[in-house]
Amino acid sequence: MRARLERDFERFRAALPDDLAGHVRETYRIDLTARYLGFPVPHPIGKGSGQLSLNQEQLENDAVAGLAFVVLKTVIAEDAAGTRAMDAWAIHESRMKIERVRSASGLEGWTVTWKGRGWDRSFEEYLELARAAGDLTRSGRMVVVPSVKYHLPRLDEGFREGEYQYTTQRLARAWGGALLALEKDFSPTLAGDSLADERGRIIRWLHEVPVLIRRAAGEVPVRIALKLMNARHGDSFQVDMVEAAAGADALVCFNRLWSADRGVAYGGYDLSDRNLRTLAAVKAARVQRPALCGTGNVSSGRMILEYAKVGCESVQLHTFFQLPLSEYPATAGSRTQRALHALVFHPESGLIAGMLDLEESGRLQRRDGELRFLDLTVP
Ligand SMILES: Cc1cc2nc3c(=O)[nH]c(=O)nc-3n(C[C@H](O)[C@H](O)[C@H](O)COP(=O)(O)O)c2cc1C
Repeated sequence: MRARLERDFERFRAALPDDLAGHVRETYRIDLTARYLGFPVPHPIGKGSGQLSLNQEQLENDAVAGLAFVVLKTVIAEDAAGTRAMDAWAIHESRMKIERVRSASGLEGWTVTWKGRGWDRSFEEYLELARAAGDLTRSGRMVVVPSVKYHLPRLDEGFREGEYQYTTQRLARAWGGALLALEKDFSPTLAGDSLADERGRIIRWLHEVPVLIRRAAGEVPVRIALKLMNARHGDSFQVDMVEAAAGADALVCFNRLWSADRGVAYGGYDLSDRNLRTLAAVKAARVQRPALCGTGNVSSGRMILEYAKVGCESVQLHTFFQLPLSEYPATAGSRTQRALHALVFHPESGLIAGMLDLEESGRLQRRDGELRFLDLTVP
């Protein structure tokens, strides 16, 4: 199998097989089936919300590349009159810089430095994209869901329910079908904002936001993923946040770290170290929690397995899709294709190599002759 993996890695440098998960299952008897927000997906690798899911062309390229799922850029909620309480998050900024970053533990990773925030075009344009996302999801080619930043009040204020209602109902109609699936973003810029100074305020948001979104959708059932921020209140509060978010259907853990000095969000190994440490604490404490999707410095198949071992049924990446082309071992294809090639087939750091190692060490057993990715996520 190892020799076969070496050969696959070499021959797929130029192009991936059409049915990536099918090939892995047939060749290695490895079932990569994963789950994102209740949707079964052929493998665990998706794209996180951001600058790489802003238009239909990006979605089409990712579907062709064989990505499992995509989360659209975060839109700022508005009411019927177009008022947005979180307007400060809808600023325009296009320049992004990919940089190397060294973690406190001394590991060299990558981070994208960017001063922008949410969707900066009209809500109508976002609804167009959400329509395309719903069509793609129903076609079975790739799951694509919207992401929203809704109003978050101070403790003595009420939620602006008009924004919840208008935004959720328009999205439900545009995304279509009998169900709406979406992410609610609690971003690093929010973690760095004075709104997130108080722990009690954050806990209240996590309790109430899923209730408000479901109420806003009326008859339409909603699957809600809360994308949790890395708050500035330490590891044990991070576990409290997971506990408070029990009303969601899934949690995306956890968005980038906030640098108060530089006024920017960042990633790299500091981010994955913190996320994995917190998720290990959640697992050890047997906290009742929704399904998990990991995010943060996923830059190898082995890192996907680290997130799986602490319960993540899939992962969503941003930075690894933005590296200089010379960083990918593939020689052709889109960045998404090149990233998938490295993540799945790399003979040392890839997903297949990592799962074969886990089998050898007795951590993962074959069932009916197959190694199953999701078996790793079971406590
Ligand atoms: C330039 C940039 C823009 C982002 N914008 C959003 C966003 O609008 N909404 C959101 O939920 N996450 C956003 N993210 C977070 C990513 O989706 C992802 O969760 C995070 O960067 C951690 O993954 P990574 O280490 O693979 O980049 C953004 C990240 C980057 C780098």
